[in-house]
Amino acid sequence: MTTIKPEVISDPRVLSERLAALRREGKTIGLVPTMGALHEGHLSLVRQSKSLCDVTVVSIFVNPTQFAPGEDYEKYPRVLDADLARLDSVGGVEFVLAPAPKDMYPEGFDAHVHIGGVTRRLEGEFRPTHFDGVAVVVLKLFNISGADIAFFGQKDYQQAAVIQKMVRDLNLSVKIRVCPIVREEDGLAMSSRNKYLSPGERKEAPVLKRALDLARKMIADGATDPAQVKHEMRTLIGSAPSAAIDYISIADPDTLDELDRIDGKAVVLLAVKIGATRLIDNMIVP
Ligand code: PAF
Repeated sequence: MTTIKPEVISDPRVLSERLAALRREGKTIGLVPTMGALHEGHLSLVRQSKSLCDVTVVSIFVNPTQFAPGEDYEKYPRVLDADLARLDSVGGVEFVLAPAPKDMYPEGFDAHVHIGGVTRRLEGEFRPTHFDGVAVVVLKLFNISGADIAFFGQKDYQQAAVIQKMVRDLNLSVKIRVCPIVREEDGLAMSSRNKYLSPGERKEAPVLKRALDLARKMIADGATDPAQVKHEMRTLIGSAPSAAIDYISIADPDTLDELDRIDGKAVVLLAVKIGATRLIDNMIVP
């Protein structure tokens, strides 16, 4: 294991200069954008970056522009010291960008990035301003770092699709790697928001993964009618007393358009509130 400790930088301009110098030496840069409260899912992205790039940068920034009023911006966990300790346990991360909001959005900042199409449904319907906020901060992080490859988790499937579309539509040169979902032993997808669950809710939360497994099995057994699969998933999720479904979708994996018949590759996506905590998960089938 490499034992280097990351250099923690708050000023994006300082990081840009350091990375530009490394790029001039021919080094490749890997970027892992995060909002902190790092878990094994994030660390798997870091390991991927280390295996593919010469220099790894992890950004830790709870991005205000992707939260709507009334969402969890204020209470989102901010645990920089614990995050740095987790990164030390992996080793080999050269830089951590940990800016304050004013470093990313200085006085007078007034720019917008809107990606159409794939942003409209699902999360876009429930959180209409969310992906504009994600797009603006991710584009800034790409520009600050000049990354060759950026790493995102499949857990935020639609986010990864939006970012891939932004890269295509705006001719960005960064390559995007989407890495598999990392799960707890009982199937719950790792997420910084799992910390909000009470012990009772935490016991109910694996129902999302059980519903996805049920869909996968039904489709493997020949189900082609999305309505029938969704009905069975709803019934299963309904058995968890604290669960309230925002959406269940069976969609084309590239466009995220809803399918009216399952006859090839599909992605099953769902958003479910467990008590006050909104969880998302997905699975590509078959
Ligand atoms: O997935 C996240 O944690 C965030 O949406 C991201 C990509 C770091 C942008 O703030």
